[in-house]
Amino acid sequence: MKRISVILLILVFLCGCQKSTAKLLEELGYSEEDITLIESLSEENQARFLESYDEELLELIKLQDFKEEKIDEYLKYRGDLEDEKLIEMVNNGMINDDNHSKLKELYASEYYVPRKEKLYLQYLDSCNDVRSMMEIVNTGRYRDLYTDIETTDVSKKELMLVNKYYQLPADYVPDELVDVEAALGRGQLQKEVYEAYKPLYEEAKKLGYDLTIVSSYRSYDYQYGLYNKYLQSDPQEVVDTYSARPGHSEHQSGLCMDVTIPGYSLDNFYKSDASKWLAENCYRFGFIIRYPEDKTDITGYQGEPWQLRYLGKAVAEDVYKCGITYDEYYACFVE
Ligand code: DAL
Repeated sequence: MKRISVILLILVFLCGCQKSTAKLLEELGYSEEDITLIESLSEENQARFLESYDEELLELIKLQDFKEEKIDEYLKYRGDLEDEKLIEMVNNGMINDDNHSKLKELYASEYYVPRKEKLYLQYLDSCNDVRSMMEIVNTGRYRDLYTDIETTDVSKKELMLVNKYYQLPADYVPDELVDVEAALGRGQLQKEVYEAYKPLYEEAKKLGYDLTIVSSYRSYDYQYGLYNKYLQSDPQEVVDTYSARPGHSEHQSGLCMDVTIPGYSLDNFYKSDASKWLAENCYRFGFIIRYPEDKTDITGYQGEPWQLRYLGKAVAEDVYKCGITYDEYYACFVE
């Protein structure tokens, strides 16, 4: 009899406690749903919640894949990742003391491309520098050059990507090619590109830089001949650092041009003030320097301070200010 009374007393006490927890939460404005969720936790975890009324914990508990037995790990790594990602990573055993700061950097990066997530995670543990790893994944440079080649999407017009992984069909010819006036150089360009180039040319001229277009649109056949001519004097691995294979040259798009100034060849153009001015200013007219000296490992080409690529003002400015290659920009923001 005495034992039964004690048990009853304990039960009454426990019910009383539960009631008061629910009541307290109710008074604090928690919804019925929230209260039910909190009460579904173990006593230890309820107490944990009540210690600080941890709203962020409540948000985690509300998520479909929340598992109470993983609560310590959620609490340990939260703040590093978005809630849903945190739960997914913890539940799948993908986050640990060694990688959580790398994961944080990865998911917070403006260059994070969701469809490339598996690849990032594949290279994450072995990388020392998350940003460099992302650059390699974004541009596809974890593969050998000229592998897994795709036909580029020409419907993207001035934003199309032509590189060693994206090619133009052999019969691709830009729609509106116009002749470059003799005073500005030679060849043909897409009309919009040529119109955008003229004010750049004029401003450069006022500064004393008399730019000349020395190469502009090139057909597939022309590039084929050029590339094969180079092969007669250099091994292919060397030619590939300075000439595109046919179908892979931006020149075939009519969106780019090589420029220089009197007294300089392409080879020593980098020494000229005009080259510095172009690098810092061409974005204002809608152009970028397509093959920067410090990105040869990504583009697969030696630096070409003379090759201007048209992208339109907004994108050219963005690419310039981000300080990334167009190859990466395309993967992150255009594709
Ligand atoms: N020189 C550049 C890479 C081309 O051949 O298109």
